Amino acid sequence: MRETDFNRIVEAAMSRRGFIGAGFAFGAMAFVTGACAPSSNAASVGGDRFGFSPVAANSLDTVSVPEGYEWRVLASWGDPLWSDGAPFDHATRGDAASTQRAVGDNNDGMALFTHRGRTILAVNNEYANGPIIFDNRILGVPITTDDIRKGKFASGVTICEIERRSGIWKIVMDSAYNRRITPETPMAITGPARGHALLKTAADPHGVATLGTWANCGCGRTPWETYLTCEENFDFYFSSSDWFSDATADLNRYGVNWRDRGYRWADEDERFDIAKHPNEANRVGYVVEIDPLDPASTPKKRTALGRFKHENAEIAIASDGRVVVYMGDDERGEFLYKFISQNRYVEDGDNSALLDSGMLYAAIFHDDARGEWVALTPSSTGMASQAEICIHTRQAASAVGATTMDRPEWVAAHPRKAEIYCALTHNKNRGKKPNAGGDATPVGGPNPRAANQYGQIVRWTPDNGDHAATGFEWDLFVLAGNPTVHADAKAGSRNVTPENMFNSPDGLTFDANGLLWIRTDGSESNTGDFAGMGNNQMLVGDPNTGEIRRFMVGPRECEVTGLCWSADRSTMFVGIQHPGAKGGGHFPGGGETAPRSSIVAITRNDGGLVG
Ligand code: FEO
Ligand code: CA
Ligand code: CA
Ligand code: CA
Repeated sequence: MRETDFNRIVEAAMSRRGFIGAGFAFGAMAFVTGACAPSSNAASVGGDRFGFSPVAANSLDTVSVPEGYEWRVLASWGDPLWSDGAPFDHATRGDAASTQRAVGDNNDGMALFTHRGRTILAVNNEYANGPIIFDNRILGVPITTDDIRKGKFASGVTICEIERRSGIWKIVMDSAYNRRITPETPMAITGPARGHALLKTAADPHGVATLGTWANCGCGRTPWETYLTCEENFDFYFSSSDWFSDATADLNRYGVNWRDRGYRWADEDERFDIAKHPNEANRVGYVVEIDPLDPASTPKKRTALGRFKHENAEIAIASDGRVVVYMGDDERGEFLYKFISQNRYVEDGDNSALLDSGMLYAAIFHDDARGEWVALTPSSTGMASQAEICIHTRQAASAVGATTMDRPEWVAAHPRKAEIYCALTHNKNRGKKPNAGGDATPVGGPNPRAANQYGQIVRWTPDNGDHAATGFEWDLFVLAGNPTVHADAKAGSRNVTPENMFNSPDGLTFDANGLLWIRTDGSESNTGDFAGMGNNQMLVGDPNTGEIRRFMVGPRECEVTGLCWSADRSTMFVGIQHPGAKGGGHFPGGGETAPRSSIVAITRNDGGLVG
């Protein structure tokens, strides 16, 4: 298809929703018209769907919320969960023992559960921030075995009861619900790959049980009240004691090679040494289901949902009651997936095995605004078994010609209609080169810009409004960009303005009203291509009009991550991940205190709803 035809199709797809409108110039990459965009400030605050005044971009070392709202820290990395845990020490920044008894580092996805009048928060701790957590060591790297274990225990998942007293949310110390799940917590391997030869190790000759979860990025929450934690950059922790032989091509496809990213876990635990235990790296990269209401429960690695760098797991229910899980693989040029369960969700029934059997699909986007989900089966992929597909899922999706994407981050499903959104955060390699061992990444479809530094949000509607359908229609909700610097496709789509511009959409979550909350994880340089965007932030998008408004700006050098609401929706909990990560911030304590990843609670001064 010629470039101009493609541009017309994208224009048609976007203008159909009524927010792109006229003003397109045809030609390479010219379907974006930031220059003639209306100002988001033009909308009145009183009668609009947003109900708040936009927050200006800034580079402050604090959280900025709209007038009439306030924020407060609920919990920070290193806050003890039990009274026998040591209080956070700003000088040493804790040790392995204190870290194991405390809120983990780098909080990312999170979900809230209510049970018998209690409020339980489950939150991912994606990784340990080396330069911050090891600030007591030269070069900010782990030196001792205890340092290595401290980094390990800062990762995983934190589950804690919280309560609101005198209007202030706090952790309930010593609650029976409090739990730390770490890279050493025993887990069951379930689903098609359970027991497969590729999962068998010296420690587990049957391939059915493993230790721990790590690189826990985004999340999911099932209708049957369990928490899904998603293993993303799991490869960063494996290394090889044999420097002369590299990992297999199958491990390379997942980024696993002879060198880790400085965590040194193999020095303390040889299962992270791929020269000795190559199959250990096949036992991570899954969605893990956790019952947050039963602290004694064994987390389950649900292999049916595939193995890749999972961002989040968004659940929808198909017309016939089957469970659909939408999932992105966050790596440049990797794919978008969905799982459809074999059995149906039964309210108040036993749904504990729903995520163990079903079909995995990968998405193909066509340039004519149509798309299809292709089942990953032995016959479609040429692989020997469903088990192998669930372990080498990237290779399976490559075999069916799935569309390479600009790093799929969170997927969010509209609560009232079958419409799904996915943040494609950015991809500097689009049109240049594939992921290692991956497929070519031509410009086109929902990835329309070469060397894409701003990102976009794609959305699609399944045929017949049924999440189980294999066909869908797609368009772009927004192309992020900078209309004050660029006049071409880099200006962004028309709903991007000098007042709301941002880069690198990442977290996506719908509120109960059907508004889309967008968090960013991009450049906070505020210069050059990113001039005027300020720190990473949270914005709200209206799916009906395309309007986007900035709600919150995070502190310096942070990413804004997880998002959930209290049961009465009077409080919004927001993740502030790695503030001051480059040495330029001290959120939340200020002064010379250690910068600490934190969860903040945002409320309205009048006690009203916050989404
Ligand atoms: Fe951990 Fe893709 O973000
Ligand atoms: Ca993310
Ligand atoms: Ca990201
Ligand atoms: Ca991050």
